[in-house]
Amino acid sequence: MKVLIILSSALFLSGCFNGDDSQDSAKDSAQLGKATFEKNCVQCHAKAGKGLAEDWKARLPNGMFPAPPLNGTAHTWHHSPKSLMTTINDGGAKLGGWMPGFKDALSEPEKQAVLDYIFDLWPEEIQKKYNARFKK
Ligand code: HEC
Repeated sequence: MKVLIILSSALFLSGCFNGDDSQDSAKDSAQLGKATFEKNCVQCHAKAGKGLAEDWKARLPNGMFPAPPLNGTAHTWHHSPKSLMTTINDGGAKLGGWMPGFKDALSEPEKQAVLDYIFDLWPEEIQKKYNARFKK
């Protein structure tokens, strides 16, 4: 009887790994990325990372640069995933900027998901270039 229970639960579990499971987790991660962005980043980088400033290269009255768009129209995609993750963790203060760091405010999966979310905002052409440059 015990064997039967173990066997049937093994079958049940293996059912979970069939079919679209990886797609489901990609979808969960995309949702986590969007939610994390909209909770923590949107106030400066604007919806879908479009940026709030008309010209992100023009200094604000306080002498600082505005938060740049993250959607592929600025230079985000020139930086490696590692360096973007450093910005998310440490913010911009080290480089004379004012973005706050999220090292302790976000979990590692949230940070990775938000980075993936930013990647997903870019036009396909830029994604391809980025992958060619930074991923195998
Ligand atoms: C208080 C405003 C503010 C918030 C909130 C904020 N940022 Fe930023 N972000 C900036 C500014 C300003 C810069 C430009 C560097 C600087 O001045 O620190 C920047 C730069 C960046 C860059 C580098 C962009 C590039 O083109 O090199 C990334 C990536 C980034 N932010 C991601 C995020 C993510 C992800 C979040 C949310 C978890 C976030 N930011 C929240 C203001 C903000």
